[in-house]
Amino acid sequence: MRKKIAAGNWKMNKNYGEAIELASSITNAQVPEDVTVILGVPYIYLKEINEIAKANPNVFVSAQNVHQKENGAYTGEISAPMLKSIDVPYVIIGHSERREYNCETPEILKEKVRIALDNGLDVIFCCGEPLEIRKKNEHESYVKDQIEKSLAGLGDEDMKRITVAYEPIWAIGTGETASPAQAQAMHKAIRDYLKELFGEKIAEETAILYGGSVKPSNAVEIFGQEDVDGGLVGGASMKTDSFLDIIKSF
Ligand code: PGA
Repeated sequence: MRKKIAAGNWKMNKNYGEAIELASSITNAQVPEDVTVILGVPYIYLKEINEIAKANPNVFVSAQNVHQKENGAYTGEISAPMLKSIDVPYVIIGHSERREYNCETPEILKEKVRIALDNGLDVIFCCGEPLEIRKKNEHESYVKDQIEKSLAGLGDEDMKRITVAYEPIWAIGTGETASPAQAQAMHKAIRDYLKELFGEKIAEETAILYGGSVKPSNAVEIFGQEDVDGGLVGGASMKTDSFLDIIKSF
């Protein structure tokens, strides 16, 4: 049985008061017992929201990024040992916004994945194609290449701590969602590729989340697809009611 995961990605949103209020209202809500809820919050709120989340055994925090080096002269950066030292359980790595705006290459992402795992963090690894690749019908090979370049070579124990998030860039924050059939086709392709790289058991056990304009009105259908194990949700995770509706969509 794969985990069912509803992960929120707040990106660079919410001031302190709003962040604490949102995290508290989600933590205090009834969450189905078999759903893992993850709140991807800005770094400066991690410690406090991690404490808040501990009140609910199904709710966890995630960092949205981590630096690829252990420590050193990297002004403004946050390391994996720092995250671990405040008990952060998850980190999102490879979000398309970071790939684009922060020039994070597959090689850098590979280092980030390695250092996160070495420091005991579970990783939500993002992949996904831009519109022009989808139009050329090259999305499957594009995403496989992203996975190959950043995850190939990981061991079984490593892979047990990896969740993959497929997020077509053309669907992020645009209101346009991949159709349930498009999501399922890509998730199946990803799972088949994980099988090639890591074997049947790991492929069957790895949760693959869909991201890109997930909202209460489409979550049931998307999460209902065989190879979709949940969502990585931006906009709709930043309002208590809509995120709770999504959490209940499995
Ligand atoms: P969105 O963002 O739900 O607002 O499209 C998803 C994401 O970027 O993770």
